[in-house]
Amino acid sequence: MSHGKIIELTPSSELTVLQAQLGGWDNLNHLLICNSTKNALLIDPFSGDFWSEIVKERDLNSITIGLTHSHWDHTKGVEEFLKINPNTEIYVHKLEYERGWKGPDTHHWTHPPHTFVNLNIGNLIFEIHCTPGHTPGHITFIGHGVVVSGDCLFLGRCGRTDLYGGDMYSMWESQMHLHIQLKNLPKDWIVLPGHQYSMSDGNNPTFITIDFLLENNPAIKKQSFEEFSKLEFLEFDDSLAEKAKRERARKEEI
Ligand SMILES: [Fe+2]
Repeated sequence: MSHGKIIELTPSSELTVLQAQLGGWDNLNHLLICNSTKNALLIDPFSGDFWSEIVKERDLNSITIGLTHSHWDHTKGVEEFLKINPNTEIYVHKLEYERGWKGPDTHHWTHPPHTFVNLNIGNLIFEIHCTPGHTPGHITFIGHGVVVSGDCLFLGRCGRTDLYGGDMYSMWESQMHLHIQLKNLPKDWIVLPGHQYSMSDGNNPTFITIDFLLENNPAIKKQSFEEFSKLEFLEFDDSLAEKAKRERARKEEI
């Protein structure tokens, strides 16, 4: 179990990022703070208590929650945070309802896969890219020196595609979409994923530069779907995959 040690990053003069690893699944949570207004975007909170304390300590103003996707380990802290901070706005993509998300949320993104809309947080503007494949309405946040990639893009691989609502072909398209986006961003911007997995060189960082990721991540490099589909981390033979099979079968019966 992680204890919520916080790493503080300043990827650009206008943005401070707090990264904490929380819970039994070692989820990486991110708080993106607009330095001039003290408004902030809280992405995938695992603990409402933990982040409410930080908000108090740092004397932050309005907090908006943005969810990369609706898996329980990325949303567990939402209800608790909302209880303590009842005016919080919560954004999620509407396609997440396809896999059974029922909220709580207050705003739905509805833009099509592989397009983006903007989200204003204080004086900051983040691009909200719809990058499905791990789930139907997965989001990647891009702006002001950071790419927050949830379970779509890890540092040395991509997310699995065999859970309920996942799709390998969509994930390939999302990787190609992100490849184009990342290629056009400054090379020293950093990528902040939803979980920490070892890189092929044995290192196990919680963030790396775009430049390093494009060199070392086999999922995002330009390739055919046929090549992509052979990657060993897209599907697993485990209890989660079994559960997804049962959920798909139940859906087909209805
Ligand atoms: Fe996930």
